[in-house]
Amino acid sequence: MTAVEKKSIACFLDITSDFLSSGYKTKVNDCSFTDDVSSTASSEISLPQDRVSCNTDSIEQIADEIRLCKNCPLGMTRKNAAPGEGSLQPLVMVIGEGPGAEEDAQGRPFVGRAGQLLDKMLEAINLSRNSNCFIANVVKCRPPNNRDPYPEETAACAHFLERQITILKPRFILAAGRVAAQTLLKTTESIGKLRGKFTELTAGNITLPFIATYHPAALLRNEDLKRPAWEDLKLLRSMLDKDKTG
Ligand code: URA
Repeated sequence: MTAVEKKSIACFLDITSDFLSSGYKTKVNDCSFTDDVSSTASSEISLPQDRVSCNTDSIEQIADEIRLCKNCPLGMTRKNAAPGEGSLQPLVMVIGEGPGAEEDAQGRPFVGRAGQLLDKMLEAINLSRNSNCFIANVVKCRPPNNRDPYPEETAACAHFLERQITILKPRFILAAGRVAAQTLLKTTESIGKLRGKFTELTAGNITLPFIATYHPAALLRNEDLKRPAWEDLKLLRSMLDKDKTG
């Protein structure tokens, strides 16, 4: 058998096993094989390499899986999942907590009052979901009554976010609020301690610069948080500028 034939069988088994065990495709195994017969001997049946690639994951594919997902109780109570949206080559990926009522109604992240403020905050440092940011959440379905997502819900949703980060490869990650920062950094430290500095976030096989700030909904409730949030945004802007010149 040639390497190409082995690879196509391995891909088929990989995808079949994912679908049988969880109902969706969870991982991409990049398999490599060598020929055990001359490839010219069986060239009539070999497939072009690009047809047998296992690397089929895409933002659209992930969004489709999210819209069908029932892997945690939030999948039963949501109206619409909000998989995420924005540039597919983002400078910054903004990660919030989870959809609220308006996001649940529209199936889009950060479109309510907090989302409108987030858009203004991003605009102030020349960022926008229409050009250079991707906006997502740690959970893609609305927790009832806007409660914090439970750990088992963020755990069930984590592979979607990890796959989004791995595909998009943003230059920077901005966590909006305590729940996103704590979930991503796997800590219970307060947002007051987590914000205001750059650290690193590893997702799958990539490590990215990461900064957290206050959630825009918190800024709407407490004006005093606006100044420190603005400091965080300016810090992000200065890192983006350095990244451009470096
Ligand atoms: N709050 C979030 O954290 N995410 C949204 O998408 C909307 C509000």
